Formats: sequence, C-alpha cells, structure tokens
Amino acid sequence: MADASQTPLALYVHWPFCLSKCPYCDFNSHVAQSVDHDKWADAMVRELHHHAERAQKQNHTLSSIFFGGGTPSLMAPETMAKIITAARDIFTVPHDIEITMEANPTSVEAERLKLFHDAGANRLSMGIQSLKSDGLTYLGREHSAEEALKALDHARQIFNRVSADFIYARTDQTPDEWRDELHDILALGLDHLSLYQLTLEPGTAFYSRHQRGLLNVPDADEARIFYDMTQNMTMAVGCPAYEISNHAKPGQESRHNLIYWQAYDWLGIGPGAYGRFWVDRKRMESRSRRDPAAWLDDVMRQDHAIDQYTEDSMIDFAHEALMMGLRLHQGVHLNRIIDMAGPISGWGNEKAMEQLIAADFIAMEDGYLRLTDQGRPLLNTVIEHLTQDHSG
Ligand SMILES: C[S@@+](CC[C@H](N)C(=O)[O-])C[C@H]1O[C@@H](n2cnc3c(N)ncnc32)[C@H](O)[C@@H]1O
Ligand code: SF4
Repeated sequence: MADASQTPLALYVHWPFCLSKCPYCDFNSHVAQSVDHDKWADAMVRELHHHAERAQKQNHTLSSIFFGGGTPSLMAPETMAKIITAARDIFTVPHDIEITMEANPTSVEAERLKLFHDAGANRLSMGIQSLKSDGLTYLGREHSAEEALKALDHARQIFNRVSADFIYARTDQTPDEWRDELHDILALGLDHLSLYQLTLEPGTAFYSRHQRGLLNVPDADEARIFYDMTQNMTMAVGCPAYEISNHAKPGQESRHNLIYWQAYDWLGIGPGAYGRFWVDRKRMESRSRRDPAAWLDDVMRQDHAIDQYTEDSMIDFAHEALMMGLRLHQGVHLNRIIDMAGPISGWGNEKAMEQLIAADFIAMEDGYLRLTDQGRPLLNTVIEHLTQDHSG
C-alpha cells in the first residue's frame, strides 16, 4: 500500500441554505429566515477538527477543498476564511491546493465574489442552468440569463478557474433548441462545464408533477440524442467529457471530483455531508445529520453531528471504486482496487469482464478498465455484469 499521507485527500464543506428551493433539486438545501453566521463558522471549524482526528488525517496533504450546497455564495466570507484557515492549521497544504466554491448568479451574490476570493477560494462553479429565459422560468431560478452572464463575466475577472452548470433535456426542449443553447454556452469559452441531463428526483416538486402526468421529460432514446449531441459539440471545441456530465479543456478537470471518482479519501463536514476514508486499512464512511438545526445543536454539544459511522466491506469498496471509476473516460485503475480489496474473484466476475471486453463494451488500457463509446450509455448494466455473484 502506498504511504497513506501521500494519497490524495479532499475536504467537502456543505452549506445547506438557499434563497429558494428549486423544483428539481433534491440536494440538502433549505430556505432559512435567518442564520447565525458566527455560530455556524464556529460549528464548521469544530466539526472539521473532529473529522480530521477521527479519520487520523492531521498532517496529511490536503489536495482540495470544495464548498458545496445549498448555496455557498450565501455564506459569510468570514466563515469561509475561518474554515480555510483551520484546514491550513490541521493539514499540510500545498501551494497549488484547489479551493472551489459553488455560487448562484444573482446580483447580490456576484457582488461578494471578490470577498470569497480574498477568503482563499481559487475556483468557482456557477449554477447558471440555462441561457434561455423560458428555461430559467421553468427551472424556477431566481436570476435572468442576462444577470447570469453578467455574474459570470464578473467571476472571470476575479477567479482564474471558472466552471458553469447547465441542465438540458428539459420538458418540451427539442434537440435543435439545445443545439442552439449549447452553441451559445460553448461560445463563452469556459475551461470547465458541468452539463447535466434533467433527472426527476423523488421528493422534488418536478417528481410529483411528473407522477401526476403534468411534466414530461425525454425518454431514453430521445435522451441519447441530447447526450450524443452534447458529446460531439463539446469535443469539437476541445472541451470533451472526462466524466459522464463533466467537460474540461486539458488540465482543467475538477481535482476535487476526481478524488471522489477515483475513490480516494475525503472528509465531509456540514449537514448531510458524508466522507469516506481509510483508517488502518479499513474503509470508513461517515455521514452527518441532514437537518441544519439538529446538526448545529449536535456540533455545539459534542463537536460533531455524525449519525452514521460504518466500515465498508472490501466488496463494497471494490464496487464503489468500479462504479465511480467507470464514470471517468480514463476509467478505473484496476490494480489499485486489487491492491486494496484483493483478487477480482473475491468481488467481481472475471469471466463477465472478459466477455464485455470481447464484445467491446469495456476495454483495458495501461492498467485502466474503461467503458468504450458503445458501453458508456450502459454503465449500470456493465456494473451489474462485472459484480455478478457478489452483491455485497
Ligand atoms: C448543489 S447544486 C448547485 C449549486 C447552486 N446552488 C446552484 O443552484 O446554482 C449542483 C448542480 O446540480 C445540478 N442539479 C441539481 N439537481 C438536478 C437535477 N434534478 N437534474 C439535473 N441536474 C441537477 C444543477 O446544475 C446544480 O447547479
Ligand atoms: S439547485 Fe442550487 S439554488 Fe436550487 S435548491 Fe438546489 S442547491 Fe439550492
């Protein structure tokens, strides 16, 4: 096993508040009347110390911090600064650490971006979702397309690395309309884009509208047309997918998300955050309470709000690593799974692997097992075959 202090470690910080709840979103996000920012800053720092100790990660090299949400651009910049300062005290921090924050493009938040940059963030991910006003209304967003473009422009003057999120395959959107919209998105010349197909998540307003027959989304065949178009157009401008929904110019991939997809170690603090990390060759998973008020109470009382702390079996780890790693175009480093979880026969089906390679659904290259173009839309089926007889 490699020296554990040298394997990548990331920190995820969840800020659970939003101005309003978008009808498609099932993230742990809440609309609050008021937030005691000093108390939240104190609690986040306390939970960070607790997690670092529990996971035995003090002094390890921290590659990335990601402030996600919710809407982290609604945090007090001082809160972000306090968390970054605490992380710098606890871990070894290289000069090129990636510190990403998600931001919404409403004008009030855009005005504050410089303060977050001063607090230490060096990469920004802006949730624009659509450049069309009917798309934004449909998605229940609080900003106009014009406001979003202005905020993006402003962000690019402050941050060297800026990404944007968009949602496509929306109700009634035709492939031709998406082609036009994507054309305009690509003309922005961003180095990183997250382009998500709309998914209907149980518990959301969109989901119940769909259940009642009031909202349509493309079926699998139509969705494939949107997906292929997206792959071709992004590839043509040199910003290809490196993961199912994430596109980057070379070298601009999100290092933070790569840590998840490569099944390395991360700590997760804040309501509903989860982390996964190795402690003495055991793969541990921690999950904090989802409800913001309950989370805050728990942390003030006992320095953490972890309500689930479990050890993953090696089969669970191998399956997670396969599932996450095959999302990447590069694929998954097979020997690393074998190194941690033992020979394939203990967690996977070697015969199925050989058959899937022969049928050109997956390929082995330089030690990486990856999906081929033909296999990419069939990720779940491929996983089912690869893990047959080892359902955990
Ligand atoms: C935590 S949210 C983003 C942060 C920020 N609050 C925002 O909305 O701009 C992460 C991203 O997930 C995507 N997303 C959320 N729910 C989705 C859904 N049901 N289908 C597709 N994409 C979704 C959106 O693009 C969103 O920007
Ligand atoms: S999409 Fe973003 S702004 Fe909308 S509810 Fe989810 S986290 Fe909040």
